Amino acid sequence: MRTIVASITRWDIVWLTAIFSLHSKRLLAVAMPQISRTADGFCYPLLAMVVLAADLADPKAPQEMFDAIQAAGLQVDTLVNNAGYGVPGRYLSEPWASHRDFLQVMMTAVAELTHLFLPAMEANRYGRILNVASLAGLVPASAGHTLYGASKSWMIRFSECLAMESESRGVHVTALCPGFTYTEFHDVNGMRANVSKLPKFLWLSSAEVAKIGVDAVEAGKRRVISGFTNKMIAWMTRYLPDFLSNALVGGKAKQFRNAD
Ligand SMILES: NC(=O)c1ccc[n+]([C@@H]2O[C@H](COP(=O)([O-])OP(=O)(O)OC[C@H]3O[C@@H](n4cnc5c(N)ncnc54)[C@H](OP(=O)(O)O)[C@@H]3O)[C@@H](O)[C@H]2O)c1
Repeated sequence: MRTIVASITRWDIVWLTAIFSLHSKRLLAVAMPQISRTADGFCYPLLAMVVLAADLADPKAPQEMFDAIQAAGLQVDTLVNNAGYGVPGRYLSEPWASHRDFLQVMMTAVAELTHLFLPAMEANRYGRILNVASLAGLVPASAGHTLYGASKSWMIRFSECLAMESESRGVHVTALCPGFTYTEFHDVNGMRANVSKLPKFLWLSSAEVAKIGVDAVEAGKRRVISGFTNKMIAWMTRYLPDFLSNALVGGKAKQFRNAD
């Protein structure tokens, strides 16, 4: 039985399990007898699911999750590091405790969960690690994004190095770099009113982004950017002269980002 460890909740888990199951003959074989149709006609496999609640800002959380999974006798071959949030405002507008928690969730927990679950994946010569980074980790810096962009740049480099180290041992590692995606992200950080002014073509649904990420990790891609528009933004900001790409990103960011 394949086990997915995912720092995700609500509908994302339905999408991700459904999409991962399409890629796995083994998982599908287990799930097929239990395929069901919901009232709105959406089909997905009913999978055995163990839910562990954990606050990843707590430095003890990764080890406690690992211990609980070991105690349940589950073998993990897929890890999705998805949990994340943004802290709006300039760096000094927040107390250190807020930044310390942010770094713990966005970087240290990701690194530690990977360090805990990777050895068994390599020993089994099969594993998938999908790290949900961001287009923000690829484009130039902008004010009011002090640790967020930096943490996502870190995640992209971390994933790419890890992919190079582990792919010969049967483990695929992918950094998924979404742009604007319809989720609760901008409600949680209080930026919904601002980002709602952005044009619709910049946005993708969470289902589209999840599928792009899962397809990429199954295919062994080290990095994937979701959607044509986001690919173009990444390409332009990489190849334009610095003064132009800084002006492009900085100017746009001023329209929706709080840097006070
Ligand atoms: N939405 C976008 O436009 C966008 C763009 C690029 C990248 N991303 C990235 O996509 C990932 C998923 O975000 P989302 O857009 O799906 O936002 P979301 O709807 O707000 O979901 C964020 C998830 O992270 C979990 N989380 C936050 N803090 C946590 C903590 N301390 N411990 C455990 N879980 C925690 C939340 O759990 P609770 O609900 O229980 O708090 C929630 O399940 C993030 O890494 C984000 O940086 C999002």
